[in-house]
Amino acid sequence: MNNYITTSIPYVNGEPHIGHALEFIMADVLARAARSRGETVLFSTGSDEHGGKIAEKAAEAGITPKELADKMSATFSDLAKKLQISNDRFIRTTDAGHEQRAQLIWKALEKDIYKAKYTGWYCVGDEAFFSETEVEANKGICPNHNRPYDKIEEENYFFKLSSYSKAVLEAIESNAFVILPDTRRNEILSLLRDGLEDISISRPKDKISWGIAVPGDPHQVMYVWFEALMNYITVLGYPEHADFKTFWPATTQVVGKDIIRFHAAIWPAMLLGLGLPLPQTLYVHGFITVDGKKMSKSLGNYVSPNDIVDKYGVDAFRYYFMRHIPSYGDGDFSWATFEAAYNNELANELGNAVSRTVAMIIKYQEGIIGDIPPAEHDIAQYLAALQACRFDRALDEVWEQVRGLNQYIDQEKPWELAKQQDPDHLREVLAYQASNLLEIADLIEPFMPETAAKITGIFNEGIVRPLEGTLFPKHEA
Ligand code: MSP
Repeated sequence: MNNYITTSIPYVNGEPHIGHALEFIMADVLARAARSRGETVLFSTGSDEHGGKIAEKAAEAGITPKELADKMSATFSDLAKKLQISNDRFIRTTDAGHEQRAQLIWKALEKDIYKAKYTGWYCVGDEAFFSETEVEANKGICPNHNRPYDKIEEENYFFKLSSYSKAVLEAIESNAFVILPDTRRNEILSLLRDGLEDISISRPKDKISWGIAVPGDPHQVMYVWFEALMNYITVLGYPEHADFKTFWPATTQVVGKDIIRFHAAIWPAMLLGLGLPLPQTLYVHGFITVDGKKMSKSLGNYVSPNDIVDKYGVDAFRYYFMRHIPSYGDGDFSWATFEAAYNNELANELGNAVSRTVAMIIKYQEGIIGDIPPAEHDIAQYLAALQACRFDRALDEVWEQVRGLNQYIDQEKPWELAKQQDPDHLREVLAYQASNLLEIADLIEPFMPETAAKITGIFNEGIVRPLEGTLFPKHEA
C-alpha cells in the first residue's frame, strides 16, 4: 500500500516556532507508523517562499526575497532534521521544478480561469483577500496582524471556485474526502453550504513582483496561496512523473486550523478542475499558546523548538507535543508543564520501568534474560487512535501499559523472589518485564524513535546491554 503524507509549507518570513514543530511531528508520526505497518511512504514538507509578506520582510532586512528565502528555508529544514522528522522531500516553492510545474497547472486550469476587475481588500500578513463585509466588521484593521487592510482595485485573474462548491461539499459529506476532527469538518461544511465565490488568483506584477509569472501574461504573477497549494503535486512531479502516479491522491494532509479554507475548499476545487482525485484525509490540528497566550511578535513570546530540544532532548519534545497538546483542539506550552511531564512521565514512569528492569536482570541473573515471551497486549485502541490522528490518545494507551508494568513490578516484587530462592518464577517475571518493554518500544517508535531504539537495543538479544546513563535524567528545578 502507498501512503503519501504532507504538511503545510511554512512561510519563510520568520523563524520556526513550536507550532511549526507540532505539525512536523504529527505528520512524522503518521509516516513512521505507516512505514512500520509495511506501507510504502512518501512524506513531504517544505517552505512557502513567494508573496508580499516575504518581499516585505526582505526589504526590511535590506536583502532580496530570494536571499531571505534561502536563509530562512534552511532554518526549517534544519528544524526538521533536529526533530528527526523522516521526510523524504523538502520542496521549496522557488525550486525551478515547482515554478515550471505550477505554470503547467495554471494552463491546465485555464478553462476555469477568467480575467476581471477585483475590488476588495488584502492583508499581507494573512496573504489573503477579504470582503467588504469582513473588513467593515473589523473596522478596517486586520485583527490577526493589527494593521489596516490594503484596498485593492485591479484587474486580475479569477478561478471559478463557485462552480466546484457543490462537488466539494458532496465529497466531504459522503466522506470520500474525510476531514478530521468533526468540529473542523462541520465548520467547512457550513461554509460550503453557503456556496463559494470565485476567487482572485493573481496580482499585478507592478504591485507584487515576488511570485511565479502567469503563463502568457507578463504583467501578472500568481497569488501566493494558489501557487503554494500546488506544491502537494509538483513535489511528486505532476503530471508525468512515476511518483505522481504512485502517490497521488495523498493519504493524509496535515494542516493547522487557520488554513482549513484553503485546504478544504480551494485546493479540492483546484484538484477537481484538474480532473484529479481528492486527498483521502485532511487532518486539522489546533493552535498552541504559550503560558495561555497567543504567540505573537508584539508579546515577543515565540518559543524556539531548539531551546527545548537542547535542554530536554528530541524525544521529550516530541512526546510532550504529541501527548499534551490535544490532537483535536488547542493546547498550551509552558516550561513548567513541560518539565512536570518530563519528570513524572518520562523520567519516573518510563525511565524507571526500564532502569529497574535492567538493574534487576543484571543483579539477579547476571544480565541474562532468557526466552522473552511474545507481546501480549491488545493494541486495537492504540491503532484506532493513530488511524484517527488522535496522537494524544495513542500515547495514553501506551502509558496505560507503562503504568501497568510498574504496578506489575511492585506487585511481583522480584527482589522478594530473589530472596525466596525462586529462580524460575523470578526469571519468568523479569522476562515478562523485558517483553513488555520491547512491546512499548515498538509502540512509541513513531513518537520517540531514539528512545525506542535504545530500549530495543537493551533487551532484544536475550542479554541485557545496559545504557550508559539513564534514558531521561531527572531535571531538578
Ligand atoms: N505558507 C502557509 C501554508 C501554505 S500550505 C500550501 C502558512 N504558513 S505558516 O508558516 O503561517 O503556517 C504553517 C503551519 O503552522 C500552518 O499549518 C499553521 O496552522 C501552523 N501554525 C502556525 N502557528 C501555529 C500555532 N501557534 N500553533 C500550531 N500551529 C500553528 O500558513
